[in-house]
Formats: sequence, structure tokens, C-alpha cells
Amino acid sequence: MRPDTMIRLTIGILLCANSFGVKAQSGNETPRLPGVAGGDLPAIIKTDSGGYRLLVDGKPFIALGAQLWNSSDWPYILDKEWPQLEELHANTLEAPVYWQNTEPQPGKYNFSEIDTLVLGARRHGLRLVLLWFGSYKNGSSQYAPEWVLAHPEKYPRMHNANGEELTVLSAVAKSNCEADKAVFAAMMRHLGQIDGRQHTVILVQVENESGSLGTDRDYSGEANAVFKKGVPSILLQKLGKPAGTWEEVFGEQAAETFNAWYIASYVEEVALAGQKEYPLPMYTNVWLREHGFRRPGEYPSGGPVSTMLPVWKLAAPALAFISPDIYHSNFTVFSDLCAKYALPGNPFFVPELGKGIDFARFEFYALGSYDALGVAVYGIDPFHADPGDERDKEKLDDKFSGMADNYRLLRGSIGKIAELQGTGRLRAVGEEYGRYEQLVTLGGYDILFSFGYPAYRKKTLTGRALIGQLGEDEFLITGFDTRFQFRPRYGSGYASAEYLVIEEGYYENGQWIRKRIWNGDEAYHSTLTPDGTTLRIRLRKTKKTNTGPVKANFE
Ligand code: DGJ
Repeated sequence: MRPDTMIRLTIGILLCANSFGVKAQSGNETPRLPGVAGGDLPAIIKTDSGGYRLLVDGKPFIALGAQLWNSSDWPYILDKEWPQLEELHANTLEAPVYWQNTEPQPGKYNFSEIDTLVLGARRHGLRLVLLWFGSYKNGSSQYAPEWVLAHPEKYPRMHNANGEELTVLSAVAKSNCEADKAVFAAMMRHLGQIDGRQHTVILVQVENESGSLGTDRDYSGEANAVFKKGVPSILLQKLGKPAGTWEEVFGEQAAETFNAWYIASYVEEVALAGQKEYPLPMYTNVWLREHGFRRPGEYPSGGPVSTMLPVWKLAAPALAFISPDIYHSNFTVFSDLCAKYALPGNPFFVPELGKGIDFARFEFYALGSYDALGVAVYGIDPFHADPGDERDKEKLDDKFSGMADNYRLLRGSIGKIAELQGTGRLRAVGEEYGRYEQLVTLGGYDILFSFGYPAYRKKTLTGRALIGQLGEDEFLITGFDTRFQFRPRYGSGYASAEYLVIEEGYYENGQWIRKRIWNGDEAYHSTLTPDGTTLRIRLRKTKKTNTGPVKANFE
């Protein structure tokens, strides 16, 4: 799909609660709308086939990312971090930007950390996703500057139902929102000045896992007064509900929905203030509710959890997407989360994913089954603890296993994979306990993938692959520890598929480079190696009877 045939995306107001409203505009307009810029600024577009694509410098891009630990965006740590990112083969660094450091005194800005980040990323050929740790970070406000936290009379806090003050800024207090807007706008203005041409920064996350830990809603005096007034008519209108109190309209979700509406509206104002200065695509991330007893306040209440997503999409249309942070390495849980967050109107992105081989296959699923615009492993640097601690060295090795292999293998092909996303011509397969083979039907072919040796005894789930259809009889397969076999689609009238050629190689600057041709034993076993293999395969369907049995795993 060429960019000029694509439709520019604008995140619009929701038309109804269950279908998130992403409106398309015709390609020859260059609207300056949230997250969409003219020229070659990073942008998210909607493709003709209804998928989403992240464009960087006008070309499809997928972030193969890594996120720093929370307190690691300091120049002396970054100096040590760049070589690790190279070792990981990441193409994108997700790095926090702290309000407390950006505005140490009211109205006095310090952008030196951002400058260091941007220059360092450029030197190392990386893109950046900036994470704005402003008013909200993991259901608390610990990143607000001292001059904010020390003066709750001026910058009011949320209170719990017992009337106790929490370390969470109140979302109904205008002074809080105005303070966050001002610094965020200043940061985006600075970013536009230093990066408006080079586009090192491709996305900005507004706040981090918003919501309130420790209470289901804000019970401060001001919040109680707002709560008493009932549901704002704008929300009722958007939801198509009759007027009423929060309890009448939302029942037992009243407190959480109240918090969600005011926090999302706050985040929207912050995002818009920033986009006015420099219109990069923005998003926010989620502390999921899918664990524990699922009670708001035990996870940050009012954050964009799955049940509050419709409210967030209504209140915060400036955010191009809302993304889950995923630390569950279980296929069923992962699939459930993807079904909740990879939706029409909400392009999929995984800003935080657990580390190591247990999570490696989920990057493939995210990219191939849910058209993710990017994935990022969390906690890449060892500087959250004593760097001399031997245990951290072990963790470092663990972390690299799987993810570094993924990024090394996929980095060259991401342009091609991004082109295939959203076209129906890309799939992911992966090994799971009890699932040792997977049948994929793509174009005119049935392709059987199988994993493991011997399957029933394997402890580590290493099998994972992406498969893309490049032409009627041509496929790209890239992955690890996976065997494949082709047959013409059942019922097509053809009986067997012949390999015309299996080329092993890689992509460089969008060009396919062939390393060798597979034939003989390699073609017979047709297995992606544990180190990772990328193949381009051309086939021919024939009417010849297929006499051979289906090959057993690694026979
Ligand atoms: C999710 C948060 O978004 C991150 O900033 C970090 O705190 C991780 N959890 C846990 O380490």
C-alpha cells in the first residue's frame, strides 16, 4: 500500500460506546488534527483495508522497543545504556520524562535530559517514544515536582472515602490540570524546535497508568460537589443515556466511571495542549484490571482499564490509542487482552511487555495477529539496583534471550511486515503447551506449522513465526524453531504444492538479499532454525496426487 493511497487518520469523537470512532479523511488533505501532521511528521494512518499503520518519515514503521526502568533517564545511566540497546537490536527506546525534573521550579524549564536523549538516540540510530511522567504514574502522582506536592492547598489531592488525603492529584482541580498542561506544552514546543525535522521522537505517551490507587474515586470536597451534580450532559449525550446521578446511570461502576471521566478529560487537555505545539501521535497506557479481585482502587481506579475504555475513548479523542502493559505470559490471558484493546478505532501497541523467552512469542502474535504498531520489552537496563550486583547480570542475560533474537531477526523486515499488516495477508503462529501444530490458510494455500522436539517434553516455548503472502504463490516466513509444510487450499482442486525455490536471506533497506537457496535436506525438513531464519518461498500448485504423509515433528 503506497502512502499516497492511504487515508489519513483522525481520531474522532465516538459515535457510540462500543464502536470507537476513527474517522478517515481523504489522502490529499493534510489536516492538522490530533496526532496527524502534514509533511513527514510521524503519523498514524488508516489504510484502505481498515488497518492502521505508523508512518515515520513517510514510511511504514514498527517499533521494536525497549523501555528503561523508571529512574533511569539520567545522562550517566544513558551513557551505559546505549550499547545494551545495540545488543538488543532494538530500533526504538521508550524513555520517561519526569515533570519534577523538567520543571524544578514553577515556570522554569529544564530540557537537558530530553536533549541528551534525543542526541543519544540519533547517534545510535534509534527512534524514541517519550513517556510523560506528569500528574499520573501508576495510580499515584509521585513524579509531580516538590512545589506541587508540598502545596496541596494549591494543587489539591484526591481523598479516599474516609476523607484521607492521597498522593494522587485531584483530576477535578483546574490548577493541577493547568500546571501539567503548561509544562507538557512547553516540552512539546521544545521538542518541535529540536526534532521537528529529524523525527527522532515518534510517539508520546501522556501520563503513565493513570488512575487512583487506594480509592475507587476522588472523595475530596471539590470532587464530592462535582459528583453530586450528576453525570455531565456531554457524557450522557455521547452514551445516549437519560440524565441521572452517577449511581443511577452507572450503578456499581459509578465511582470508577466518575474517576475515569474526569481523569480522561484531564489527560485529553494535557495531550491537546502538547499537540497544539507539536502534533505528534499520542497515546496512554494501562495498569490492567485483569488480575486479583478486580476492585477499582486495588488497580488505579479511573484508568483506561478494559471496562472503562469506552469512557476514555469518548473523553480523550486526542489519544490515538490506549495500550495495555502486559506482564502475563499466558496465551489465553494475552489473547483476551488483545481482543479487548486491538479494536476498530484503537490501533494496537504494547508499550510494556515482560522480558525473556517466555514472552518472545507474544511479540510475534502482537505483530502478526493484531497488527501491532510496536512492542517494547520493559526494564531493559540493570540500573534499578546496584549495577555491581551479580544477580542483575543474570537478569540481563535472561532479558536478552528471546527478545534480542526477535529484534535481530525482524529489524530488517519491519518495513515489509508493516506493509502486510492490516491487509489480511499476514499471520503469526507460535508454540504453546498442548498446541504443537497450527494450520494457517493464506491465499490459495494451507500451511501446516509444527513445533518442538520432542514436542511433548519441551519446557521452553521457542517456536514462533510470522508468515506473509507476498504474491499469489509467494510467501515470506520468518521465525524460530518452527517447521512448515505447504499444500494447496483444501477444495481448490489442486492436490499438492511444489517448491519452485526457497531462498534464505534478509532485508536491507527494503531490498531482499539472498544468502543461499534451500534444497535437498533443508527443503525436505523445512524448519526455521533456533537462531532464526527468514525465507522467501515461491511455489506451484499441481494436480499431482499428494502421496506423502504429513511429516511428524522434526522426524
Ligand atoms: C508498569 C509501569 O507502567 C512501569 O512504569 C513500571 O512501574 C512497571 N509497571 C513495573 O516495574
